[in-house]
Amino acid sequence: MKRIFVTRKLVGDAQLLLKKKGFHVNIYNEDHPIPKQELIKRVKDVDALINHVTDKIDKEVIDSMKKCKVIANCAVGYNNIDVEYANSKGIVVTNTPNVLTDSTADIAVSLVLACARRLHEGEEMMRTGKFSGYKPHLLLGIELKGKKVGIIGAGEIGFATAKRLKAFGTEIIYFNRSRKEKFESELSAKRVTLNYLLKSSDIISVHLPSTKETFHILNKTNLKLIKKRAVLVNTSRGEIVDEKFLIEMLKKKKIFAAGFDVYEGEPNVDPELFKLENVFLLPHIGSATIEARTAIAELCVKNVIAVLSGKKAITPVKAN
Ligand code: GLV
Repeated sequence: MKRIFVTRKLVGDAQLLLKKKGFHVNIYNEDHPIPKQELIKRVKDVDALINHVTDKIDKEVIDSMKKCKVIANCAVGYNNIDVEYANSKGIVVTNTPNVLTDSTADIAVSLVLACARRLHEGEEMMRTGKFSGYKPHLLLGIELKGKKVGIIGAGEIGFATAKRLKAFGTEIIYFNRSRKEKFESELSAKRVTLNYLLKSSDIISVHLPSTKETFHILNKTNLKLIKKRAVLVNTSRGEIVDEKFLIEMLKKKKIFAAGFDVYEGEPNVDPELFKLENVFLLPHIGSATIEARTAIAELCVKNVIAVLSGKKAITPVKAN
């Protein structure tokens, strides 16, 4: 009987499909990520692993797998897995593109609106009894209509975010290593350099994968180019932005506000962020809708079934 290990209970009924197919499914049923040594023990004799972004699947973990054929990552980003090494050992790695595009774009737009209109400050004011009635100068924010939106990373999520923001009456520009026809024909968006984007955008939304090349692609040098009245949101990976420097800019009000769904050094969050009023903080919930997380689980399971039945994986990834 083929054995599958799941590092955390999946949303929906996808696990049942594995059982119906006659696989033996073992789940780490705790409400925290599995400790590395425990993971190493549990994957020794599995034929497939279904894991989450919180699991680091490095050389040591991969070396402990004696017969694994497929690692199915419950996420679109797969920087948590040493894909090159897994592939070199004959293990297929899969991710979950497309199924979480809309949920993540919804969160990116939510962050933009929350930051631009200072929603968290308003909410806190209400809950702490500080609202004393309408005031003409209370919590003045930024209107989206007529503003320039800079999308960094023009993949599916970047596109879905741009499309939503375009509907607010904004102009879209994008930075990407290759031209994206869809951005240009459907959104009349122009491809620009990163520096130009940072200098001229009122709203900046980050959608890059985390790789060696994108690590701190937003850094001390180019973050300084951002307009004082701009909003920056990140729903991709924390390592893309030099978080410490961005915090300094936020402290000195060199940027209007920033919205975070991801952090450098997750699950740790820089405590300085909690002291700032001009940030809106979310706990990595880009794909956290019932629809997306159910579809993610189904896609992972289907990838596992495909590979273990000797077929091609549906959404395999290659090392970046
Ligand atoms: C979540 O972070 C994902 O990459 O899907």
